[in-house]
Parts: sequence; C-alpha cells; structure tokens
Amino acid sequence: MKHTHVAHHNMRSIPQRINSCFLLTVYSWIALSTCHVVDRFSVGQNESFTVRCTIQKFRTEDYPGSPYVVTLAAERRPTWEENFQLMAKYSPFAPLEEYKKVTNLTYRRNWNFQFLNGDSFDNRDKIRIVIVVNDGNYKDAGLYRCYYVDPLNRKIYSDNFFLRAYAQGRIVNMGSIGPGDSFIVQCDRNKFQRPGLPKSPLMEDLMVERKIDGSDAYTTMARFRPFLDKIPNRRVTV
Ligand SMILES: *[C@@H]1O[C@H](CO)[C@@H](O)[C@H](O)[C@H]1NC(C)=O
Ligand SMILES: *[C@@H]1O[C@H](CO)[C@@H](O)[C@H](O)[C@H]1NC(C)=O
Repeated sequence: MKHTHVAHHNMRSIPQRINSCFLLTVYSWIALSTCHVVDRFSVGQNESFTVRCTIQKFRTEDYPGSPYVVTLAAERRPTWEENFQLMAKYSPFAPLEEYKKVTNLTYRRNWNFQFLNGDSFDNRDKIRIVIVVNDGNYKDAGLYRCYYVDPLNRKIYSDNFFLRAYAQGRIVNMGSIGPGDSFIVQCDRNKFQRPGLPKSPLMEDLMVERKIDGSDAYTTMARFRPFLDKIPNRRVTV
C-alpha cells in the first residue's frame, strides 16, 4: 500500500512500537495481548478469551497514512464456516447512532463488547474494539482478524490469527466417555509424527477416520479438501 509524503510524516511514531511487538514474541504471553488479535493460542470448553482490534494488530506497511480511521472491525471465521463473519464494527463518525457501534451477537452467547477512543480525528493510535468472550468453547476455534477503513474508503486487513481448539497432541480430547457426553475430535498437523509431516507448508487433503469397537474397518468421519473446485465437496461430513 502506498502512502503520500504528507501521510508518511504522520506515521513516524508507529514503527518503533511494532518493532517492540516483534521483540515481545520472545515473551509470548505479552506478545499475545499486544500483537495478536486473540489473547490465547487455544480455547476449550467454558474458557474465556479476548479479541482486540487496534492499529497495532496491522503490519507496519499497512498502517493508515491518515491520522484517523473511519471504521475498525473484528471478524472471525469459525473452523466450520466457509466465510468470515462480523463480530463488531466501530464507525465513530457515522451519522446515525445505530451505525456507530455495531455488534453481531449470536443468540444466547455471553460476549462483552467495548468500543473505545474512536471519537476524534486523530483516533488512529487510540481506537480499539475489545470483545470478551466469556463462554468460549471449541466451536470458537478458527481464524480471527481485524480490518480498518481509511478516509479514502480503502479496507485493510490484519493478518489472520488462528485460535485452536484445545486438544493439543491428542486426536480426541477425552480418555473415556459416558452416555450423553460430548467430545472433540481434532485433526491438524500436530497430530502427525514428524517424519510423516509434508515437506511443503500446504496440505491439500485432511481426513478423520474411526473404527468403532466391534467393527473391522475404518470409516471416514470428515474430510477437508479446501482447494477442490466444487465448493460443496470441500468439506465432507458423514
Ligand atoms: C460450563 O459452565 C456451565 C455453567 O457455568 C456449567 O454448568 C458446566 O458444567 C461447565 N462445563 C464444563 C465442562 O466445565
Ligand atoms: C453475524 O454472525 C452470524 C453467525 O453468528 C453470521 O451468520 C452472520 O453472517 C454475521 N453477520 C455478518 C454481517 O457478518
């Protein structure tokens, strides 16, 4: 993204902060709250997590040239969804009150929204959205990101942050189950032995199978081929 000379002058104080953001990745718990959109790496049943959008969540080269942004928003794409969904959108200068602070709260979820410091024409370094998800669960796993809209109406996205479902190391999150219990089956690269991992960073086809007591063959539970041409075939469930 290109900036004008005037705009560049305004940006001066920010790169320092981003550098310290990279240094902080050594202390990953501090980096999580400062640099990433979500403050945890994984979420399990009944665990809370916080989604934060500020200008620091964007790459240095993607900072707005203007001293203010028109809109700041938080979005997510849960693992089971095809598209990103809006979580909250903050447009402090919108003419109508109802468009200034938009929340998209799913039925019966316990989320807490804060829209802060957007109300001036130098809001760029101060504006923030904070969403506390008090009732997190494994279905909240997925990609989280922020975007802002600048005065020229350009929409700029932050990097995606992948919030994992908490089942690290194990394919199934429980050792035994009783009647009516629910459990999580999670497949990702961490479930494979190192020699079995693909050399390329690309996985085209990921499949979960199971063999129930008393049956003599594995059956497919789910198959994910994100690059197939036919969209309905990309996510196959049984
Ligand atoms: C989650 O929280 C609800 C309500 O607080 C409680 O009834 C339930 O037992 C909790 N589940 C787990 C797995 O902790
Ligand atoms: C709001 O969230 C729901 C799911 O929770 C989603 O289906 C819908 O598309 C979202 N709205 C927008 C504008 O993204």
